[in-house]
Amino acid sequence: MEKANIDWSNIGFGYIPTDKRFVANYKNGAWDEGALITDDKIVMSECAGVLQYAQTCFEGLKAYTTEDGHIVCFRPDLNAERMIDSCKRLEMPVFPKERFIQAVVDTVAANERFVPPYGSGATLYIRPYMFGISPVIGVKPAEDYQFRLFCTPVGPYFKGGAKPITIRVSDYDRAAPHGTGHIKAGLNYAMSLFAIQDAHEKGFDENMYLDAATRTKVEETGGANFIFVTKDGTVVTPKSDSILPSITRRSLMYVAKEILGLKTEERPVYFEEVKDMAECGLCGTAAVISPVGKVVDHGNEICFPAGMEEMGPVTKKLYDTLTGIQMGRLEAPEGWIKVIK
Ligand code: PLP
Ligand code: COI
Repeated sequence: MEKANIDWSNIGFGYIPTDKRFVANYKNGAWDEGALITDDKIVMSECAGVLQYAQTCFEGLKAYTTEDGHIVCFRPDLNAERMIDSCKRLEMPVFPKERFIQAVVDTVAANERFVPPYGSGATLYIRPYMFGISPVIGVKPAEDYQFRLFCTPVGPYFKGGAKPITIRVSDYDRAAPHGTGHIKAGLNYAMSLFAIQDAHEKGFDENMYLDAATRTKVEETGGANFIFVTKDGTVVTPKSDSILPSITRRSLMYVAKEILGLKTEERPVYFEEVKDMAECGLCGTAAVISPVGKVVDHGNEICFPAGMEEMGPVTKKLYDTLTGIQMGRLEAPEGWIKVIK
C-alpha cells in the first residue's frame, strides 16, 4: 500500500480530506445499513435540527501504526459508549456500540494510505459525529439523523509538540452545573470559541475553566482534562460532574496506578492547591499529554518546577507509557487495543 504524499512530520492538527467516510441515516425510527462513500459534502434542509438548535454530538479517537507495522486504534468501545451517553442527553437516537466500532475499523482500513507511518509523530484522527438532519422549527428534537465518521491525519494539537504551554484562568464558564459539560455536544465547543480566541489573542495556549457554581475548583480546558502531580508524587485529577470523562485521563490514571505503581486520586481539586503542584498536564486524544509550564490567573503566575522547556518527570513517564501502549512498544492492558490490519 503506497502511502499518501504527505510530509507526515510537519503536519499540524488540521483537516486533510481522505478517500472514504462512513455514513448511516436514521429514518422512520431505524438506522439504515450505512456505507463507505467518497462524497465529502452533505446536503440537508435549510431548517435541519443541527443548523437551528445545534442538535449534534461527536467523538474523537486515533489510529496508529505500531512498531511492528499493524494499524490499531485505542479503546473505541469507550468512545462508542460515550457517544451513546451524549445522544441520550441530546434526545438523539443511539448508534449501536458494535456498529460504531465496525465503522471505525472499516473507515480506517479504507483510508490505509493516510495512516501516518510509525515514528513520524503523526497519527490518524477519527471523528465520528451525529446530527439532526430533518427540519425543525419549534424547539424539539429532529425526526431524522445522520451518523458520519471520517478520518484525517494529524500532528500535535499544540504547536511545539511536547513543549510546555501557558494557560490562563478563564473569566468565562465552560459548563453549568447539571448542564452538558459531561457529554461531547457541539454546543459546548461553540460557546468556548470566544474564550479561546480571546486567550490566543492575549498569548495563551488554552483556558483553564473553573467550576461555574463557586469558581474555586479546577474543571478542565476547552479540549482536555487536567492531570496534576503533587510534590510527593501522587497523580491527581479533578472529579466533577461537569467535565468530559476523558478516555485518555481514565487510561492514564490506570497506567499511573497499575503499571507505574504511583498513588492516584480522583477528587475535587481547588484552584488554591495548584500553586503547590509539582507538575501539570492536559490530557486528551488530541492533546495526548501536553505539559503545562505556567498558569496565569489575572496577572498572577503559577510556574511549575519543570519549567518551560520540558515535561516533568512523572508526566514524561505517563506519556512514554501511554504512547508506548498505543504504538505497540509496550504490552497493553486487556481490551485497550483494537487491531484493524
Ligand atoms: N475534555 C474535553 C472538553 C474534550 O473535548 C476532550 C477531547 O475529547 C477531552 C476532555 C479528552 O477526552 P479524550 O481523552 O476521551 O479524548
Ligand atoms: C479530542 O481530543 O478528540 C477532541 O475532541 C478535542 C478537540 C478539542 C480536538
